[in-house]
Amino acid sequence: MALLIKNGTIVTASERYQADIYCEGEQITRIGTHLDVPPDTKTIDAQGKYVFPGFIDPHVHIYLPFMGTFAKDNYETGSKAALMGGTTTLIEMLCPSKSDDLLESYALWRSKAEGISACDFTYHMGVPRFDDKAKAQLTEIIEDGISSFKFFLAYKGVFDLSDEELYHALCFAKEKGVIATAHCENADLVLELQKKLISEGKTGTEWHYHSRPPLVEATGTAKFMSFAEATGAAAYVVHLSCNESLREVMRARYAGVRAFVEIVIPYLTVDMTYAELPDFEGAKYVMSPPLRHKRNQELFWNGLQQGFVHTVATDHAPFDFYGQKDMGRDDFTKIPNGIPSLEERVKLLYSCGVATGKIDLHTFVNAASTQAAKIFGLYPQKGTIQLGADADLVIYDPDYKGVISQKTHSMNVDYSAFEGWEIQGRPETVTVRGEVAVEQGEWKGTFGRGQMVRREPTHF
Ligand code: URP
Ligand code: ZN
Ligand code: ZN
Repeated sequence: MALLIKNGTIVTASERYQADIYCEGEQITRIGTHLDVPPDTKTIDAQGKYVFPGFIDPHVHIYLPFMGTFAKDNYETGSKAALMGGTTTLIEMLCPSKSDDLLESYALWRSKAEGISACDFTYHMGVPRFDDKAKAQLTEIIEDGISSFKFFLAYKGVFDLSDEELYHALCFAKEKGVIATAHCENADLVLELQKKLISEGKTGTEWHYHSRPPLVEATGTAKFMSFAEATGAAAYVVHLSCNESLREVMRARYAGVRAFVEIVIPYLTVDMTYAELPDFEGAKYVMSPPLRHKRNQELFWNGLQQGFVHTVATDHAPFDFYGQKDMGRDDFTKIPNGIPSLEERVKLLYSCGVATGKIDLHTFVNAASTQAAKIFGLYPQKGTIQLGADADLVIYDPDYKGVISQKTHSMNVDYSAFEGWEIQGRPETVTVRGEVAVEQGEWKGTFGRGQMVRREPTHF
């Protein structure tokens, strides 16, 4: 059935105007006023509301075997949470470990999503080792429509690869037009600092930060930037958390590296004091890199507004407080890392950024949708509102006031890191390729309708 969204204020990364949007099939086919449409068209009145392009989360974990357990969401709970929060496309980190076969892993991760997801999805292909077999398998995966890799310069012995492997993998990425994303921390330094702290009896959640101080991340970022400079690969730093790392990216950009910066919503909204909360409450805020000093937040808001910070993701990695996080009650190194926020990213970015005047509406759309689409080869099918684009749309009510709570969220996790936070505005109605998935804040989605979006390599 066709869909008409009337009277809304359309806001993209660069434009704001009043018009109606008509969607036929899965695409936007007309934009204008006083559109003449067939009588059986489903019509939604967006008077007083914004109409945004569907939001894109470029860093999500759904299926994640990690630190002796598994992240809690599956594609039913995860894609529902994404859509309830206005995210219509997510990019999952496909994380094979060193001993896994890459093609088998690719098939396994896809089997978790296909026929189940209600939102669209694609992957950053994890590369935990690089040899001739990996090269041949990665070539097949690229040909199947995956044009970004994920490297871990952390989690020693599990996901990390040697310098020699990293160099050759980046040369390969450059040759294929694949963008390299990386978790940048020095794996050896983390391990040694963890050992030192634990041997000193420093086992509580507050010590997680001290095992991964800014210098650990800055060193990792400097290394990734140097390797990108040496190989010419385009480089995207995931979950950059501090000024010290941002400086390394700026230095590399100055030297001509095609480098991009992702921050995640927790870094903009909560700081290191949350991980210091007593009674093990701090475990809810343990992720890596750790939450930082509050002063970094102003830098990131400015960076978004001025364009040197590119995307706001989540790094959604949900682990229950009871039964998972508490594996590290006596040793912070055993706390599964991650702060769930897939459902709250857009609302938090709007409430803490737009409603407070820290960023404008176009920056909000750019950071939460358009930049990810452009960097990862989804644009203009996704990430904007224009003729021919997928009809992924978010009707956003800026006047809505609500409260975040685990009791009402769709994510399959037993706590919310933002419990009781008041939010301003919400995605009221959300469409995926022309079909309504959320209407007036109520779930109307179809599991299994989500598609893997195939992406062409981009020679940056
Ligand atoms: O703490 C985090 N970031 N958990 C998820 C895994 C990763 O490093 O992205
Ligand atoms: Zn990471
Ligand atoms: Zn991650």
